[in-house]
Amino acid sequence: MEENGRGQWGSRIGFIAAAAGSAIGLGNIWRFPFITGRYGGGFFVLIYILLLIFVGYPVMNSELLLGRKTQLAAVGTFKKLAPGTPWVIVGFMGVLAGFVILSYYSVVAGWALAYMFKSGVYMAAGADHGSIFVSSITSTGAGIFWHSVFMLLCIAVVAGGVEKGIEKWSLILMPVLLLLLIILIIRSVTLPGAGAGLSFYLTPNFANFSTEGFLAAVGQVFFTLSLGMGCMITYGSYLKKDEDIPLVAKYVVTSDTSIAILAGLVIFPAVFAFGLEPGAGPGLTFITLPAVFSKMGAAGHIFGFIFFLLLMIAALTSAISLLEVVTAYSIDEMKFDRKKATIIAGILIWALGLFTTLGYSKLSHITLIKGMDILDSFDFFANNMLLPLGGLLTALFIGWYWGTDKALEAVNEGAKTKLGTSYSFLIKYVVPIAIFVVFLNSVGIIG
Ligand code: PHE
Repeated sequence: MEENGRGQWGSRIGFIAAAAGSAIGLGNIWRFPFITGRYGGGFFVLIYILLLIFVGYPVMNSELLLGRKTQLAAVGTFKKLAPGTPWVIVGFMGVLAGFVILSYYSVVAGWALAYMFKSGVYMAAGADHGSIFVSSITSTGAGIFWHSVFMLLCIAVVAGGVEKGIEKWSLILMPVLLLLLIILIIRSVTLPGAGAGLSFYLTPNFANFSTEGFLAAVGQVFFTLSLGMGCMITYGSYLKKDEDIPLVAKYVVTSDTSIAILAGLVIFPAVFAFGLEPGAGPGLTFITLPAVFSKMGAAGHIFGFIFFLLLMIAALTSAISLLEVVTAYSIDEMKFDRKKATIIAGILIWALGLFTTLGYSKLSHITLIKGMDILDSFDFFANNMLLPLGGLLTALFIGWYWGTDKALEAVNEGAKTKLGTSYSFLIKYVVPIAIFVVFLNSVGIIG
């Protein structure tokens, strides 16, 4: 990706690395397991996979085709295709979502940074991994410090425009992450008592169904694929006309899904083997994995360090795409130069993130939505409201305003296997209905 001018991706693999880098992050390794644990396991996973195919995949194609068509980021795309109409609000909502998500994303990435250097603590004999996590996030100074370090890294990358370097590194490091996950799965499923975790995770039990779980699955699909907030519109704007959008979308969705499913295969067997609580919430990954490392002998120190390093890098390639949405907006619409735009956006997001990190110490008495702490509330607001609403409006825009004929023409340019009427049907009916129903539910109108 280039600076202000309309750069283009150097190669297909470069684009896939960047888009998959944005998709694969904390959403796969931190958020997917704890949301799955919270909403009952196997049945949630089944719904999630169906939604990935019937909602995530068509919306991913839609965002990429819009960006490529207009060669503009989100706000500009809606201005160009629907001048003088309120559709531009969809673009603004994306900027807001980027702002809110990155503010707490950075706090969680900060936890991973801190854990890189904690193996001495969590590997100690008889260590209580739950209390280590709690004391780690409730320490005000450490929380602010690691959040600040991560935001600085993010600002440095986006301001310097060194995405090329990051792309190259993610190409090397993501396969390492994959390999490490596979090693960890082997350790985890061979723990005594792991079977219960596997069946919790892989056996769909309809009794665990709830409309709230359905809503959470929709939110997770958007979050994990970086959809519903203009991120993939922005990335699509750097695509060449002869690039095969349906094919690259398929690669991104499959690689993202694989990492999430594998992460679950590490976490849940261990959760049950160690008698932990699957619905424990945002701490799940950070409590369970150190417990797994501590069962790997001295090698656990090395595995732990490498794992949290890779998690931090996966988080960084996602975080830069979040910051890029806010930055691109201020460059395009407020005419800031890239450095100034990045630094101002970064500082504002950092400041908002302070609330999240203090939400575990000085501000722990504050609950915002439905009794949830600050991090959970921001996460709920962004993922269960802003992103599904953004996805719904994007689908309505294409299906009912701009027209699926034009969309099909745009998406199929350069495609070997072309999308057809099933895409139109999904975008016009399935996506809007699926999201609308859960969205009504989330704002408490029904259910
Ligand atoms: N997809 C990223 C993850 O799973 C998070 C993200 C959401 C990034 C929205 C960009 C836009 O961690």
